[in-house]
Amino acid sequence: MSNHVLIVGASRGIGLGLAKEFKERGWEVTGTERSKSDELHALEGVSVQTLDVTDPSTFDVEGEFDAVIVNAGITGAKHQSSEQATAEEVAEVMMTNAFGPVHLGKKLLPQIKDGGSLSFMSSLMGSIEDSSGGYELYRTSKTAQNMLAKGIAEQDAAGRDLAVLSLHPGWVQTDMGGPNAHITVAESARGLADVVEKAQPGYAYVDYTGKALPF
Ligand SMILES: NC(=O)c1ccc[n+]([C@@H]2O[C@H](COP(=O)([O-])OP(=O)(O)OC[C@H]3O[C@@H](n4cnc5c(N)ncnc54)[C@H](OP(=O)(O)O)[C@@H]3O)[C@@H](O)[C@H]2O)c1
Repeated sequence: MSNHVLIVGASRGIGLGLAKEFKERGWEVTGTERSKSDELHALEGVSVQTLDVTDPSTFDVEGEFDAVIVNAGITGAKHQSSEQATAEEVAEVMMTNAFGPVHLGKKLLPQIKDGGSLSFMSSLMGSIEDSSGGYELYRTSKTAQNMLAKGIAEQDAAGRDLAVLSLHPGWVQTDMGGPNAHITVAESARGLADVVEKAQPGYAYVDYTGKALPF
């Protein structure tokens, strides 16, 4: 039987690229969409479910998985400024990029097979060592996600043969990354799939080439 991957947030961008890449590698693929994605539905053999990472009532996903990748994410309010941010804007970006994905990841742990992996799409912008400025709403949400993901590895998944990964996909040409980004979706997805396939038990914060990133 082939390996089974669940990709959360597979409607477009990197998530859609990952669905295509894992399908090409012979994996069984389940992809989730928040809003309807014709491109995802067009991928033959891929199962599609509706899921919103900010709404736990949508978290019931059928199946057992070798790999779960929680890819969904947003940039957050356009101004990105800690001085301008409203409580609603902070809540939106934190729920979408950190607390929602981690809540979902914890719920899915029993559905991940031993030897499998749980990955969260993070960003180098979440690295405190790389505090290069700007994108204050976005980067703090990814820092929070990293903290919570490491906690899953050390507490919730402790004693299990499971890899927990915080992934940086590179700067990727998507709606979020923009047209000037360094790499294509296909390049990023290829690298990320390699990283997921080679994942070792425990926690790692790595980019799409497998390079370890500083916290
Ligand atoms: N592109 C980059 O250069 C870059 C760099 C570092 C990290 N990342 C991270 O990589 C991930 C994917 O980014 P991308 O560039 O592919 O972005 P994108 O093209 O904007 O796609 C974002 C994806 O997340 C989904 N999503 C957003 N909010 C959601 C929610 N509440 N529930 C479920 N799905 C939701 C979107 O679904 P809808 O179609 O319904 O909106 C879409 O599938 C994100 O976590 C992002 O932070 C990207």
